[in-house]
Amino acid sequence: MIDISTKITGIKLDTCVFNTAGPADVTLEELEVIAKSGSSAITMKSCTLEPRNGNPEPRYADLEYGSINSMGLPNLGYKAYIKFSKILKKKYPKKPIVASISGLTLEDNVVIFKAFNDTPVDIIEFNPGSPNTIGKPIVGYDPQDLDRLLDAVSKVTKKPYGVKLPPYFDLVHYEQIANVIKRYPVKFITCVNSIGNGLVINPYTEKPFIKPKGGLGGIGGKYIKFAALANVKVFSDIFKGKIQVIGVGGIYSGIDAFEFILAGAFAVQIGTAFLQKGPGIFKKVQEELKDFMALKGYKKLSDFRGKLKTLDK
Ligand code: DHB
Repeated sequence: MIDISTKITGIKLDTCVFNTAGPADVTLEELEVIAKSGSSAITMKSCTLEPRNGNPEPRYADLEYGSINSMGLPNLGYKAYIKFSKILKKKYPKKPIVASISGLTLEDNVVIFKAFNDTPVDIIEFNPGSPNTIGKPIVGYDPQDLDRLLDAVSKVTKKPYGVKLPPYFDLVHYEQIANVIKRYPVKFITCVNSIGNGLVINPYTEKPFIKPKGGLGGIGGKYIKFAALANVKVFSDIFKGKIQVIGVGGIYSGIDAFEFILAGAFAVQIGTAFLQKGPGIFKKVQEELKDFMALKGYKKLSDFRGKLKTLDK
């Protein structure tokens, strides 16, 4: 038997593959599709204090190797996700529930974190900076701002929580961010959010693919896999398992998942591929991962997790 179970913040996940916050996880109907799928947890859409309609459409486009989006945090407001967590826990008691919090201000985040204390939500993923909230910078690129937010939410939350981070491209930035995160009881980080503010152009119409921000949006899917792998690897080396790393970015196959775990990930999330391939993607990735592990002679994730080899002799 090949075991691909994992633990995140001490919570057991039957497999290490589940949905990322964002795609098709806004309504209860969508969340029930995830609950019934192979996804080993139910991650809900990043929520704000008040419901939001999000940015003008078109705001998402499938691309040859991934996606671009500027959704603008359309969500039903945190109270709806508290209600959903209660319904989902009753109907699907075995599936851990992940709430994603994206309050627009420090005060909003404090209110939302407090409110989730008294809910059946198992894990909280703090998503302090969407690349698509018009007029707001990406928080993960501002260590001081991140520090201020983590300080505030750490004081009020009773749930185990982690942070979803944007991709970093310079080694100095990893150190800066890790030094902030280490100061707080952050149990995991999720690497990576979409690569912010990409631009996809249709050369025939001479227009961008999406409307908000003149066409700028977060890039996901295969385009970002190598950036995501690097972020997982560098942070895993820094945190050495004391803060777990969850990988996300361009996972379509079991071998993609294998690479993320080899780079150090304790679990992987699926975003764009879930939208493009449907809920069957979770079982497909899990089965392919098991097949590839069998081929390699691995029986459990810790047999190879974080054990990327070097080219040195
Ligand atoms: C949205 C996009 C993100 O990448 C994110 O982390 C949160 C929200 C959005 O546009 O809805």
